[in-house]
Amino acid sequence: MTDSVIVTDEGAVRIIRFNRPEKKNALTQPMYAAITQALREAQASAAIRAVILTGGQGAFSAGADIGEFLESAQSGGLRPHTLEFLKILAHNEKPLVAAVGGLAVGIGVTMLFHCDYVVAATTATFTTPFLKLALIPEAASSLLAPMRMGYARAFSMLVMGRPLSAEQAKEAGLVNEVVDAAQVDPTALKAAQEIAALPAGAVAVSRRLMRGHVDAVTRQIDTEAIHFKDRLTSDEARAAFSAFLARKK
Ligand code: COA
Repeated sequence: MTDSVIVTDEGAVRIIRFNRPEKKNALTQPMYAAITQALREAQASAAIRAVILTGGQGAFSAGADIGEFLESAQSGGLRPHTLEFLKILAHNEKPLVAAVGGLAVGIGVTMLFHCDYVVAATTATFTTPFLKLALIPEAASSLLAPMRMGYARAFSMLVMGRPLSAEQAKEAGLVNEVVDAAQVDPTALKAAQEIAALPAGAVAVSRRLMRGHVDAVTRQIDTEAIHFKDRLTSDEARAAFSAFLARKK
């Protein structure tokens, strides 16, 4: 088990903390596996009534680890733990709160479309540079982003890779609350506790009714995954990954 993900329970709230600050919480296969397991356990436990995803202050997540992208490109595009993670995000039944303490990139943004409540730091930024890496959007964001923020905003973010500030993300309907960086985790905990205090059965049914498109989301994840794998193993993507890894700062 990796120590790059820390799982703690605070009463009825499970807190899943990405803990790879030296790489801005870029997500590796062991990290996806650990997050998936923590979500599965939460799903199976009546005692857990809400889950928080957080990266602490500074970075929520810089997205998928680009070194692993390059390895996957060389070994045929397999990223089994990413797909498991995306599937559990779609099927998860526990309310999900995200605490975005800083930058969110790629899957660090697209996972937020599966969350029920998102708290962001005033300094947080939201960027999905998929196409700059010769990739395509994933996590069903090609379906959920246009639904959530309208096609125009979704295209500018998902395809053109233009960043959103925390305030813009709030205006776009991706974020609920924008607070000082130091207040992000406490505010997320308060929201999670508020949800956890509601009658769990009524929360579960309301959530299911409001999200009522799980099959469509799962199909989109699968369709995106076919194209993603194809793009991942393309020469243009390999060149983009190598350029990032070799860049001089
Ligand atoms: N995969 C692998 N390593 C990553 C990473 C990623 N997605 N994001 C950041 N890192 C690493 C950097 O290479 C650097 O490692 P080093 O110190 O060994 O050189 C370390 O994390 C810190 O990142 P750095 O770039 O120095 O921080 P920054 O604040 O200047 O910039 C980002 C942060 C996120 C803007 C920049 O790192 C970046 O653009 N990362 C790539 C994001 C991305 O494209 N993700 C995939 C989307 S599909």
